[in-house]
Amino acid sequence: MKKLALAAVTLTAAAALALAGCSSSGGRSDAAASGGAEGFPADAKIGVALPDKTSENWVLAGGLFTQGLEDAGFQPDVQYAPASNTVAEQQNQISAMVTNGAKVIVIGAKDGKQLGTQLQQAHDAGVTIIAYDRLIENTPNVDYYVAFDNYKVGQLQGQALLDGLEARSGHGAPWNIELFSGSPDDANSAVFFDGAMSVLQPKIDDGTLNVVSGQTDIQQTATQGWKAENAQSRMDSLLAANYTSVPIDGVLSPNDTLARAILTSVKQAGKDVAAFTVTGQDSEAESVKSIMAGEQYSTINKDTTLLVAQTIKMIQELQKGETVDVNDTTQYDNGVKVVPAFLLPPVIVTKENAEEAYANSPSLLQIVQGAQ
Ligand code: BGC
Repeated sequence: MKKLALAAVTLTAAAALALAGCSSSGGRSDAAASGGAEGFPADAKIGVALPDKTSENWVLAGGLFTQGLEDAGFQPDVQYAPASNTVAEQQNQISAMVTNGAKVIVIGAKDGKQLGTQLQQAHDAGVTIIAYDRLIENTPNVDYYVAFDNYKVGQLQGQALLDGLEARSGHGAPWNIELFSGSPDDANSAVFFDGAMSVLQPKIDDGTLNVVSGQTDIQQTATQGWKAENAQSRMDSLLAANYTSVPIDGVLSPNDTLARAILTSVKQAGKDVAAFTVTGQDSEAESVKSIMAGEQYSTINKDTTLLVAQTIKMIQELQKGETVDVNDTTQYDNGVKVVPAFLLPPVIVTKENAEEAYANSPSLLQIVQGAQ
């Protein structure tokens, strides 16, 4: 139950189990109704609705989907939600994909709580919906979820923070830290944070870690829109209010974009980044450079190529009317049902294992080898 995305779900355990059982088979019969059992034409239209380009992984995914779906014989319609009016524009894009006859729509949601109407429309038209990377909440009309194991991402980040503090701070515990979480409209943000806090909270409780600002809950730590400028200004305020006379040893950052913003703030405050630990996620090129330069401590490798390939495999199974391969039918409760999921394993990356971690990512490997 620890990974359930919505704390507000008030079902009893028994009711939740019953719902999980019927929902996951419901997911499959939804797919069957939409052509999963009979399949659909091998050159069908497939919609892919991606959010604004807040991270490099989203930028990469668009090209990989277009190419991969074309190579598989489908007609891809890949759309990004624009940077302004993003939620409404993504809603419009999804509606248009339904109207244009897509058989499957893959969605990286901008706001996973605001797609109920469009997904009902999709369901009524027999379209199968795959939530990509981010869970879509509060609707029965999500058939599958494909993502890296987000809770595990958080756990790896929490452990990396502890390891970095030990290795870099130049002193033993206690360590002074601050916590950052992602955008509140992204279902992943709470899952990353909960995973990290499963490692960090016991260390806060026993005094190993000291969150000097006292800001430890997800509302206080949130970064609206996953925007670098929001993380930087919160970090500036935290430093000014709490760290004029005590050192800051580390920060839990949920991704690379925010990690680099936090590092900018720490540098501008004249602090020594070599003794400072900040975590990240996404293996963005700039962050891999920063890790190799001894600044950012860690990132997570969630290879977008693998995630897109897994999604296309799901679409091919649906096309042929085969059973869709999932490896998790218990953890991702969207508030209405447990969505059958295929989860890929994330990998923690530091300077020490970067070469091995990026062995199959030529451009990142080049950065690592160039820095050695
Ligand atoms: C993704 C992260 C990404 C963040 C901001 C999350 O939903 O899982 O990889 O850093 O969005 O784009």
